Amino acid sequence: MLRAQRKLYWEGGKALAPMVRACKLPLRLLCLAYGADVVYTEELIDKKLVETERIQHGDGPNGLVEYVWKKDRSTVMSTCALERERVVLQIGSASPDLVVRAAQLYERDIAGVDINMGCPKHFSISGGMGAALLRNPETAEDMLRALRRTLDPNVTVTCKIRLLEDDAKTVELVRRLEAAGAQAIGVHMRETHHRPREPAIWDRLRAVVDAVQVPVLANGDVYTAKDIDTLRGDHGAKSIMIARGALGNPSVFRPEGPLPIFDVMRDYTRVARLVGQGDRSTIWMLNQMIRYDTTLPRKPKDAVCTAIKGPKPDLNVIADAMGLESSKLLPIKDDITWEKLGLKPPAALSASSVSATLLEGTDGPPAKRVKLGDNSGESAQTTHNQST
Ligand SMILES: Cc1cc2nc3c(=O)[nH]c(=O)nc-3n(C[C@H](O)[C@H](O)[C@H](O)COP(=O)(O)O)c2cc1C
Repeated sequence: MLRAQRKLYWEGGKALAPMVRACKLPLRLLCLAYGADVVYTEELIDKKLVETERIQHGDGPNGLVEYVWKKDRSTVMSTCALERERVVLQIGSASPDLVVRAAQLYERDIAGVDINMGCPKHFSISGGMGAALLRNPETAEDMLRALRRTLDPNVTVTCKIRLLEDDAKTVELVRRLEAAGAQAIGVHMRETHHRPREPAIWDRLRAVVDAVQVPVLANGDVYTAKDIDTLRGDHGAKSIMIARGALGNPSVFRPEGPLPIFDVMRDYTRVARLVGQGDRSTIWMLNQMIRYDTTLPRKPKDAVCTAIKGPKPDLNVIADAMGLESSKLLPIKDDITWEKLGLKPPAALSASSVSATLLEGTDGPPAKRVKLGDNSGESAQTTHNQST
């Protein structure tokens, strides 16, 4: 029976990878404006998500949406309509029940939910989350099935993994995840024990891409357009996911090539202030840009960097050093538009460059890929068992 309209997942696209502290609303909006197709949030833990409450600013559709922690009213996640069709909420979880409750609370504001299956940190592993799931695929499958069964069919369900110790094991894992309902799989091309400074193993991508029908987002050491070309040309990648490359310069997504880092830092600071992000988060992010950008000298001495790196950095001083007139940067929480943010709206996805992954059945069946025609740029129709 024809039942659901499904949204697209962008195959062949470029995604901003999930990054704790970094992937908040300003960075996500900036990356979308620069050309990212999909933007992931930072990882948020299921238990915390289910303890949040939704607050909508303004009367219209474009107001800021804040999810605040009921315990201390701190903001756990902010979003707005500008990113609704492109934002993926990454959840840290090892519980089908909790991951579903968390995702259901947020689903009206997001395009997708991703389960983190790659975090090697003690906190995650000890809770059975992150990379622990690579060794416990049954729980990973249960979570994917539970999400697919319960979420609005328009919400894409994905996961992000690391490589296992050999190709055969990784292939077996991704096939199981696909069969359980993952509609795209981000693959960080390192094993759990690898350090970030060790090179990503691009040679091991093709086996994964060839093993599944759903889009595989190739992640690890992508910093330039040349890296993307090499991954696509030599290693079978179609979709790309960028983390530190986008920390160093979020305009890495621009098809025309990256902008000078100071222009990007100015855009970021303006957007962060306008959407009401706290100054500490903004200053942390500016430091990351200085740290990971490759064009700046190791110890940059200009006025902007000095203001950011000083003993008591003040965002007003930093913004003024950037020529931004900090006193005029007042939050626009009630009505956030690309124009007010001073950003170019992202190009609409062209129907010919996208494909959708459609699922049939109730309980994590094999995914089926369907190419969309020109008349289906926004959605596709699929059959879905009524008993879900
Ligand atoms: C600051 C930082 C925070 C990160 N936080 C997350 C996270 O929340 N969830 C996740 O799945 N991976 C996280 N990662 C890993 C990245 O998403 C990515 O897999 C890894 O950095 C490799 O990609 P890269 O070589 O492009 O940086 C983080 C990485 C960095 C540098």
